[in-house]
Amino acid sequence: MDVFDAVRVRRSVRAYDTTPVPKESLDKVLESGRLAPSASNFQPWKFIIVTDKAKRTELSKARYAGFLKESPVVIVGCGDRKGSPEWYAVDTTIALQNMVLTATEEGLGTCWIGSFDEDRVRSLLSIPDELSVVAMLSVGYPRKKLDLASMITGGRNRKALEDVVSYEEYGARR
Ligand SMILES: Cc1cc2nc3c(=O)[nH]c(=O)nc-3n(C[C@H](O)[C@H](O)[C@H](O)COP(=O)(O)O)c2cc1C
Repeated sequence: MDVFDAVRVRRSVRAYDTTPVPKESLDKVLESGRLAPSASNFQPWKFIIVTDKAKRTELSKARYAGFLKESPVVIVGCGDRKGSPEWYAVDTTIALQNMVLTATEEGLGTCWIGSFDEDRVRSLLSIPDELSVVAMLSVGYPRKKLDLASMITGGRNRKALEDVVSYEEYGARR
């Protein structure tokens, strides 16, 4: 699968089967985060891999995160806000999106999770003060199920290119 194929076929997966994620696949996913670019090459990210069922159940208690109960892996992306105050969120996000695309190539489903209470995640996972929780990813093999969330959010619907791109100055069409 080439990169554009991964970009094209990826979609948020919110139902998972119980098959564990093979270590080699997970390692490859994590490696693609490690290789991401970052401002001044500071690499302000820390990733916490959560497989423990009780912890995933806790994480699933946020409003739009119920499916974390069943995704075999949750990757919690944290950024060092003291070390890289301006860019920690961007850098950590880039690394997470690298992981999403590699997971897609590995046949895994993912979903970004912004639905969490940072203080609860912090205390659940003993995250130190200097790190902010930027976002989480669910990772696992997709299970076929009617995806209501995707229907509500519009799933793959995207704005047209001409609505988001201009040339040479804002609003100028090609
Ligand atoms: C930063 C971010 C946070 C998100 N948080 C959640 C979330 O908490 N729960 C959820 O079900 N989906 C979440 N999503 C997934 C979006 O709803 C989804 O990407 C969007 O509707 C487009 O659908 P697609 O990913 O299938 O293309 C999040 C996506 C991003 C990028």
